[in-house]
Amino acid sequence: MNRLKLLILFICACLVASDVTFEHGRLFPRLLSADQIEQIIQRDLNFTLGLLGLTRKRAGSAQVLTPSVLRSIYNVPGGAQAGAGQTVAIVVAYGASTAERDLATYSNRYSLPSCTTANGCFKKVDQNGGSSIPPDDTSANGGWSLETNLDVQTIHSIAPQAKIVLVCANSAGSDLYTAVKTAASMASIVSMSWGGSEGSSVYTTPENIFTTGHTNGVTFYAATGDDGNNAGYPATSPNVIAVGGTTTYTNTDGSLSSESAWSGSAGGCSSVYTMNSAQKKNSQAVSLCGSKRATPDISYDGDPNSGVAVAYNGSWYQVGGTSLSTPIASGRSAAVRAANGGSPYDAAYFYGSTPSYRDVTTGKNTNYNAGTGYDLTTGLGVWVSQASSATTTSATTSATPSTTRTTTSATPSTTRATTSTTRASTTSATPTQCTGLLCL
Ligand SMILES: *[C@@H]1O[C@H](CO)[C@@H](O)[C@H](O)[C@H]1NC(C)=O
Ligand SMILES: *[C@@H]1O[C@H](CO)[C@@H](O)[C@H](O)[C@H]1NC(C)=O
Repeated sequence: MNRLKLLILFICACLVASDVTFEHGRLFPRLLSADQIEQIIQRDLNFTLGLLGLTRKRAGSAQVLTPSVLRSIYNVPGGAQAGAGQTVAIVVAYGASTAERDLATYSNRYSLPSCTTANGCFKKVDQNGGSSIPPDDTSANGGWSLETNLDVQTIHSIAPQAKIVLVCANSAGSDLYTAVKTAASMASIVSMSWGGSEGSSVYTTPENIFTTGHTNGVTFYAATGDDGNNAGYPATSPNVIAVGGTTTYTNTDGSLSSESAWSGSAGGCSSVYTMNSAQKKNSQAVSLCGSKRATPDISYDGDPNSGVAVAYNGSWYQVGGTSLSTPIASGRSAAVRAANGGSPYDAAYFYGSTPSYRDVTTGKNTNYNAGTGYDLTTGLGVWVSQASSATTTSATTSATPSTTRTTTSATPSTTRATTSTTRASTTSATPTQCTGLLCL
């Protein structure tokens, strides 16, 4: 009888679980011509020259963000060593058979270090950590494969020395939970650029995985979604950091011009999940959502118009969405950990007194305006500080470069989002002065 009960329970659990279907971000892919990708590469080159004051700037145009621009505008510590000693796991559905080859294409075009299975930087596993990789998703516009390449290439561009584990679930259903569990056993940062409906009650299987992972020091980042409405699960999990999207304007030299909320950035109050104790400390989040989980927590570029170029099976695409902002957050988290050590960048950290943000105060999604402080379109804003805590002492350990500040000289560390066009040519190779809320 006990056995029968168990069996019935098991079947019920399966039925509930199999109801869940997750979607990767919308990506908004735009095929780039050879000329366009040349221009992007050229612009990146010009950005490097721009540091020496050689280029003129054009104010406030959204444009494809290249790896060096991303690292610069997001104040990523570590320079070429960014992410050393860290491992980021990316959870996706299906196989992405070209991901490693496409990463080589990407690294080559952007002069990033190679990240391969052979050199130990890249690893692809099935949802159980083995080698039974499922077949590719062959749907139009790259499907999950393009999503996968976006995640892999973005993390490599932000944290070029971080190891990447790609965990491929057999399907876009509850297999993803199995993959998340595997990911959390192989990395300290897990990137999830997908989401689905919250359902009518708490999903206990993944919540248990997130809770255990968190206890073990793993940070989970999830995309809120790209439709400008309420965020999907797992972004609404109180055990996950929800990442929204911005529109990012840069000058032609790659320096930041301004940031606003991207209209597609999903966010709002969960109807199922309760606010975690860390977020409860934010009175604005509480006044917006009461006892329910508020999303997003933080934001990075998500607008496809200021998206990134992604290599996929012989072509290049301009891609955006919170599928982009999420691997930016994951890669940045790896770089900050590499530079400063310290505890995981969880909700307690993000809502604590340590981190600093560039507040995003303009723009809106479908239901909410961005505004000063916490809002339901961009969360706390763009996380830009570099240290895990003021008292961190591990900065000099291991492969971490001790001169991280000088390698990020173009960093707009003293720039508000609205700062203009007068930066880079006056920026010297010495670190900018760190004042105010924007740096530590
Ligand atoms: C890069 O700089 C060169 C030399 O200043 C210029 O001719 C070229 O148009 C620039 N390219 C882009 C894409 O801005
Ligand atoms: C990659 O492109 C080749 C050549 O166009 C094609 O034969 C192959 O099916 C593509 N592979 C994937 C996974 O899309």
